[in-house]
Amino acid sequence: MPRDIQDHLLFEVATEVANRVGGIYSVLKSKAPITVAEYRHRYCLIGPLNYASASTEVEELELKDPKIKQSLDAMSSRGVKWLYGRWLIEGAPRVLLFDIHSCDGYLDEWKSDLWSLSGIPTPPNDSETNDTILLGYLVAWFLGELVFHDRDRAVIAHCHEWLAGVCLPLCRKRRLDVTTIFTTHATLLGRYLCAGSVDFYNNLANFDVDAEAGKRGIYHRYCIERSAAHSADVFTTVSHITAFESENLLKRKPDGVLPNGLNVVKFQAVHEFQNLHALKKEKINEFVRGHFYGKYDFDLENTLYFFIAGRYEYRNKGVDVYIEALARLNHRLKESGSKKTVVAFVIMPAATGSYTKETLKGQAVIKALENSVEEISESIERRLFEHCARYQQHGKEVPTLDELIRPADRVLLKRRVYALKRDSLPPIVTHNMNDDANDPILNQIRRVKLFNAPEDRVKVIFHPEFLNSNNPILPLDYDEFVRGCHLGVFPSYYEPWGYTPAECTVMGVPSVTTNLSGFGGYMEDLIENAPDYGIYIVDRRMKSVDESINQLTDYLEDFVGKSRRQRINQRNRTERLSELLDWKRMGLEYIKARQLALKRAYPNQFSPGSNPFANNAAVKLTRPLSAPGSPRDRKLLMTPGDLGSLQESKQQLGTEDYVDFKLSTGEDSESEEEEHDRY
Ligand code: UDP
Ligand code: G6P
Ligand code: GLC
Repeated sequence: MPRDIQDHLLFEVATEVANRVGGIYSVLKSKAPITVAEYRHRYCLIGPLNYASASTEVEELELKDPKIKQSLDAMSSRGVKWLYGRWLIEGAPRVLLFDIHSCDGYLDEWKSDLWSLSGIPTPPNDSETNDTILLGYLVAWFLGELVFHDRDRAVIAHCHEWLAGVCLPLCRKRRLDVTTIFTTHATLLGRYLCAGSVDFYNNLANFDVDAEAGKRGIYHRYCIERSAAHSADVFTTVSHITAFESENLLKRKPDGVLPNGLNVVKFQAVHEFQNLHALKKEKINEFVRGHFYGKYDFDLENTLYFFIAGRYEYRNKGVDVYIEALARLNHRLKESGSKKTVVAFVIMPAATGSYTKETLKGQAVIKALENSVEEISESIERRLFEHCARYQQHGKEVPTLDELIRPADRVLLKRRVYALKRDSLPPIVTHNMNDDANDPILNQIRRVKLFNAPEDRVKVIFHPEFLNSNNPILPLDYDEFVRGCHLGVFPSYYEPWGYTPAECTVMGVPSVTTNLSGFGGYMEDLIENAPDYGIYIVDRRMKSVDESINQLTDYLEDFVGKSRRQRINQRNRTERLSELLDWKRMGLEYIKARQLALKRAYPNQFSPGSNPFANNAAVKLTRPLSAPGSPRDRKLLMTPGDLGSLQESKQQLGTEDYVDFKLSTGEDSESEEEEHDRY
């Protein structure tokens, strides 16, 4: 009996399951609601068990599926530890987390097996690679057990990134009856080459990949990535630019692009996101008053908050370009006598100790002042009331301010104000850096002399730790912080997708991105007058670095020149683009990729010209074309997979591999509730 492809099981494998590191966590988490809606109990994420994050993110569950249980019991009997449960996020997907270190004893055996099976060498002391091998062997073991115990259902294993890729060559070599997808969210070599000083995009076709990987000590990792790309039934990536890069560096042309979406939550009230902006901005204001204590001589009503955020990749994330553009902006604003102030944040985790004494002191002295003002105001209020209530007694209706503020209050206030005195400039960095003298961000700030001097119109604050609401200094979660800011600036040089500007967009916060980022390319394709919509795309492809920095400075200057009304309008337009980034739309490409995987594994079940999923598909996704989010007329176009080069070549090449997918045209014909009921 052939396996049932309609009722197939889907496993997504990644190291960021219930464990935040970077953007892959965002992919899995935000996509969970639509994937669970489509698959329900047939979907499970697999990753390594990180006890610290799993203890807060995962609720353990009893395993009900008898076949999966049999498979895992077999593994338990050989010493494998695992946790099965519900990931506590929207959609509540099931997760299977392997304690990879419960299998440390197998490592040497598995490494030599990998070498003899696929010729991939592994050095002894690369713990990241060791973990990758442990995870890969465990996943392949599990899939092998599963297809042995369950002979009925087809199985799709979808692996993200090389760190979850070792199981792919194993599945192929062992001829497991599963079908596989590999999605790469970057290439190792691409990331390394760009971080150096290489003219990457003009030389993509010319790199001697093995030699370049060898020079950087990552040859073994590169082999794993390349073998994952070649062993998977379907190979995909997250953007066209990374597809091009993968083709050149991994030597396999991706079958399609799976762009990243977001779980777009619409508020009941249209302007709720604007109110949230004002609310969260006030929280940032509080922090800024403390940080600049004693030198707080600018008007917060005329202050704009810019930020860059992400993993600390100085050149790849474009921090170099950001800081240089800030310096040029500072110069221009000073020259023009601007009354505006820009506070520019850098949120990038680096090796640090705790907060500096100065940072803690700033918040403490401003809090003390605030408390004293509150106390004194309360007693003034009481006295004023008493005075007025008993005016007949002294015959004076309204007291003077001097009568209301007592000498003791004055003394207290003076003490609080004196505590604000400081000789030094407000600090740039909030934490004690482990290597302050060699930190590339700090060194560049020093080079361009952005020292938070009173005359500077651009101030800089480097917060070398991700944000969270338990933070004693800036108690905001990252998304709250983004809402409170005015502009996200992400001038990346290497960015396969780039969640940070996409997240800004759905929160109605304008942002800067580049035409080298997957997100930038996607938006450039869809929107004509992007800056009006709060999407500023810096050209880092055809311009020199200096020209790109000038273009960014122009964008920033233009933004600073906007009135509040213009900013509010722009935010409204930005937020309207959310639909373009919704998984309801983007998720279609995942569906196509899975169908292609099934088709390649079980071609007999796809008779010529027919798609066994056509009916299901129309039922599941009904709204992706609703509410045009951009001014460009692209009625027929959906995601880059439809727009873009890769799958268009299907017609040219006459390959029917990428399964066509029919959309219902009756979009918006049913209410959200009806749609929800269907799931
Ligand atoms: N992020 C975060 N806290 C922060 C800054 C960033 O959680 O203080 C998240 C952000 O929400 C985004 C992810 O980090 O989802 C970065 O993803 P991106 O795709 O931009 O880059 P990657 O790190 O994957 O290269
Ligand atoms: C939101 C609020 C307004 C507030 C504005 C401030 O739109 O609804 O009440 O005035 O934000 O905008 P700004 O760009 O100056 O922070
Ligand atoms: C990678 C890329 C990033 C992308 C993320 C999710 O980490 O660096 O650009 O957004 O994966 O696909």
